[in-house]
Amino acid sequence: MRIRFLGHSATEITDGKHTLLIDPFLTGNPVATVKAEEVNPDYILVTHFHDDHVGDTVAIAKRTGATVITTFEGGLKLEEQGVKVQTLALGGTAKFPFGMVRVTMAFHGSGVAGGHAAGFVIHMGGKRVYHAGDTCLFSDLKLLNGVIEEPGIDVALLPVGDNFTMGPRDAAIAAEWVGAKVVIPIHWGTFPMLLDDPAPFVNRVKEAGKAKPVVIRPGETYEV
Ligand code: NI
Ligand code: MN
Repeated sequence: MRIRFLGHSATEITDGKHTLLIDPFLTGNPVATVKAEEVNPDYILVTHFHDDHVGDTVAIAKRTGATVITTFEGGLKLEEQGVKVQTLALGGTAKFPFGMVRVTMAFHGSGVAGGHAAGFVIHMGGKRVYHAGDTCLFSDLKLLNGVIEEPGIDVALLPVGDNFTMGPRDAAIAAEWVGAKVVIPIHWGTFPMLLDDPAPFVNRVKEAGKAKPVVIRPGETYEV
């Protein structure tokens, strides 16, 4: 399985057969290395409906016919715009041709009235990838460590940029609680108010000596 970081929170995951795009904020994303017209997902996962996450979802879904996987209230808004949507709520899982998706909690605004911000655990190609979306540190992240996800998470993408999400110190604690083998920092370096380098997160995770921190820069890929 291949994980390509597209910048900010935007991430592409593919097993060579199916391609998933998470939070495709590409147009107006100062660090994005691909354009919205250059991605061809089968599915788009939207953690929440702030512009830096829902991004180009409607345009990409309309062009490619991709199904959007997201939470209910925001999903309805996408449906009104003519997009194919499958909604799930927090705690729900659903099977797809590529594997499975679990919708997890995130403590953050949803960007849509009555909605919830979410994270996703994606089961694909025998691996489990957790994309946390935007969130603060919260202790129920520990549930991902062998409780609701058994045996646990292989790769966790965690926001580290501070201001709108966890900063590097909190994110390093999150890395420990989630218990993933590999942690990849996201939501950094995009805007001036965010941490411009994930090194403080990486150093803390290294010091803790449990997870392997992997920095992928926008446009780069990581093979799981
Ligand atoms: Ni947000
Ligand atoms: Mn954000």
